[in-house]
Amino acid sequence: MKKLLIAVTAVATLGAVTLPAVASTPQSDLKEFRNYFFKKFPGVKLQDYGNGIYAIDAARRFEWEAMEEFPPYEDGVEKGKQLFEKYKLASCFQNGGIGIKQNYPYFDKKSGKVRTLELDIMTCLKKKGVDVKKEKIKYKKGKLAAMAAYMAYTSRGKKQNVVVPNDAKALAIYDRGKHTFYAKRGQLNFACADCHMYSAGLMARGNLLSPALGQTSHFPVWRRKWAKKTAAKKGKSGPFDGFGTIQRRYGGCNKQVRAKPLKAQGDEYTALEYFHTYMSNGIKLNGPAVRQ
Ligand code: HEC
Repeated sequence: MKKLLIAVTAVATLGAVTLPAVASTPQSDLKEFRNYFFKKFPGVKLQDYGNGIYAIDAARRFEWEAMEEFPPYEDGVEKGKQLFEKYKLASCFQNGGIGIKQNYPYFDKKSGKVRTLELDIMTCLKKKGVDVKKEKIKYKKGKLAAMAAYMAYTSRGKKQNVVVPNDAKALAIYDRGKHTFYAKRGQLNFACADCHMYSAGLMARGNLLSPALGQTSHFPVWRRKWAKKTAAKKGKSGPFDGFGTIQRRYGGCNKQVRAKPLKAQGDEYTALEYFHTYMSNGIKLNGPAVRQ
């Protein structure tokens, strides 16, 4: 435990506590955010950021490319497709739900709220009369993540295109997400920005920290860690055990700094996802991707 703390504190002291300028717009934030990374990692191109740590570490990239040759998520994506068809989700979405993930999350003017793909899938299931409790469909993993992974898969190659309209409610949600990203949290007092901006490219407890830019392009991800955990719990492994949504990941990162994870698909994580994804606009989707 002591060792862990030392390692993490070392990262903390490296992190500057600069908050972005106050008078800003989403457009100016995006520019500033990107320029920060472009300066930090000269030579890494915008599209490369979609590959997380593998964009900045050649040795790890080599291992990862080998994993992607026989993608462990293939059966899970197939299963997600079957579920998508079984529950007849196509009719709830534009273009039958195919190739649309890049537009998520979006601001829904009617409700004044931001909608993630997972929220729209859940609403659709309920509309179709699916008993989500009985079918054990939850937000962060399992069947819902598998359906989201299938939908992400059909959107590969499309550029993230999150819109923050000039609407007071939309801007307020965006600002809330931005605040969450830069706010210190947990007993260790770390912000997302401390690890994934100021310390990106450095090590924290044996993990290389990925740049926040591009992090949203490949979700849901298929993680070895999650696959093992679920298989151990159930006593057998299933095709989509490894999947988790981005908000599942947020919860894991909050836990790392000993903060209580917030509710998946609650207002705060959804605002964070809105801001976080907007920052990666223009980067091509490449999910689901394999992670450790
Ligand atoms: C103590 C450092 C730390 C903090 C604080 C932290 N993370 Fe992480 N995060 C990690 C580590 C370590 C990983 C795994 C390696 C990697 O991909 O960066 C990770 C991974 C991720 C990933 C997956 C990246 C990928 O390519 O799959 C996302 C997304 C993410 N973090 C978002 C966040 C957000 C948003 C916050 C704030 C709520 C946050 N993290 C706070 C350490 C941190």
